[in-house]
Amino acid sequence: MDSIAIQGGARLNGTIPVSGAKNSALKLMAASILTDQPLRLTNMPRLADTKFLGRLLRELGVEVAENGHTEVGGGEQETLFHAARITSTFAPYDLVRQMRASFNVLGPLLARTGEARVSLPGGCTIGARPVDLHLQALTAMGVEIELDEGYVIARAPKGLKGAEIEFPFVSVGATEHALLAAVLADGTTVLKKAAREPEIGDLARCLVAMGAKVEGIDTDELVITGVGSLGGATWSVIPDRIEMGSYAVAAAMAGGEVRLTRGRADLIQALTDKMVEAGVEVTPTDDGVIVKRDPARRLKAVNVATEVYPGFATDLQAQFMALMTTADGESVIHENIFENRFMHAPELGRLGADIHVHAGEAVVKGVEVLHGAQVMATDLRASVSLVIAGLVAEGETTVGRVYHLDRGFERLEEKLGACGAQIRRIKGEDHDH
Ligand code: EPZ
Repeated sequence: MDSIAIQGGARLNGTIPVSGAKNSALKLMAASILTDQPLRLTNMPRLADTKFLGRLLRELGVEVAENGHTEVGGGEQETLFHAARITSTFAPYDLVRQMRASFNVLGPLLARTGEARVSLPGGCTIGARPVDLHLQALTAMGVEIELDEGYVIARAPKGLKGAEIEFPFVSVGATEHALLAAVLADGTTVLKKAAREPEIGDLARCLVAMGAKVEGIDTDELVITGVGSLGGATWSVIPDRIEMGSYAVAAAMAGGEVRLTRGRADLIQALTDKMVEAGVEVTPTDDGVIVKRDPARRLKAVNVATEVYPGFATDLQAQFMALMTTADGESVIHENIFENRFMHAPELGRLGADIHVHAGEAVVKGVEVLHGAQVMATDLRASVSLVIAGLVAEGETTVGRVYHLDRGFERLEEKLGACGAQIRRIKGEDHDH
């Protein structure tokens, strides 16, 4: 298992290109199952998660071909997905358990072939994360579902039917899953209380480019009129707002001036509003933001509460907590999306942070300095929060279990290193993640 070692204290100065969004790319990849024509995705992030889903798609008969340069964050990175023929409708446990997004092949498989057997998912250990809403939506669309030894066995012998579905609460995955299924259904599907995360807009727009009929994009009510078939398309993956936000916080933590390019300032507005409140200078640009912070001045503690988009993203909560560990005062952080998403708090504590977690709330009392230590990544976003804290911790911080980080951050040590961070990867033994 690799680890990452950071020597704290270096300022960050330079430019970091933002990659394509993991959480959009994964759903766009699943969309390739819906057509026998090629789907060409550009601005594709090269990540453990996308590689992993590529493996599953190949098992199902999809041709997957990576092309183009692999400059850091290069938009030239593209991957072609061509599901000329679906040769299997079986998604085995081993290929679904490690990554929850794999479960989203279920709807497209049903829409294309009328049947599927897909393992129930695993993913990050950030709470129970069931898939009941996904299954309810598919059932409403006429799918017969049986659960058997950890597998979902689903059949739509008469095809999928349009339905009116009101989600009991907002779910990103369930909204995407219902959308992926509805585009080829017979009739109109209305999704009420739909999530409106930018990655859903990206998926919906790509589906429209493939010939789907979707109205209400970026709102909480999607109206999808099923079509007989979809064609191919070339689609550029939306910038990764979580990667972008993570580097914005890293720059704020270390101090200095970092320009984030190939991104979109509006996607991280809820975060940058809080950063500005804390005393960081943030300037939006045409393709990102410039983050500036004078390290001699301590930041002010501010409170945040995670919400669905456009609120403060749960995927940026750990990073913001890291930033608050050395702020002046007390910051209260509420986690409203996942019930168990504070595993980074005790690890930050190993670096000297003063954090008390009770139920869905963490109280962070800012300390003057953090001290380097050995820490362990527990999930994807938690791991980057430890790297961020390591940027200022005195001495060396070693972050273990870096495979979590590799799931969602493309060449993080290269991107931070190019701005002056003292960061290196220590190669370990191979791990099956
Ligand atoms: C997506 O997860 C993202 N993953 C997550 O990012 C992100 O944290 C989350 O949305 C919220 O923004 C991907 O896109 C691959 P949800 P998802 O369905 O779709 C409960 C990362 O680090 N729920 O909106 O799983 C659920 O347990 C990952 O990149 C049910 O109860 O999120 C949670 O408490 C981590 N039943 C809440 O809803 C269901 O059927 C929101 O989950 C579905 C969800």
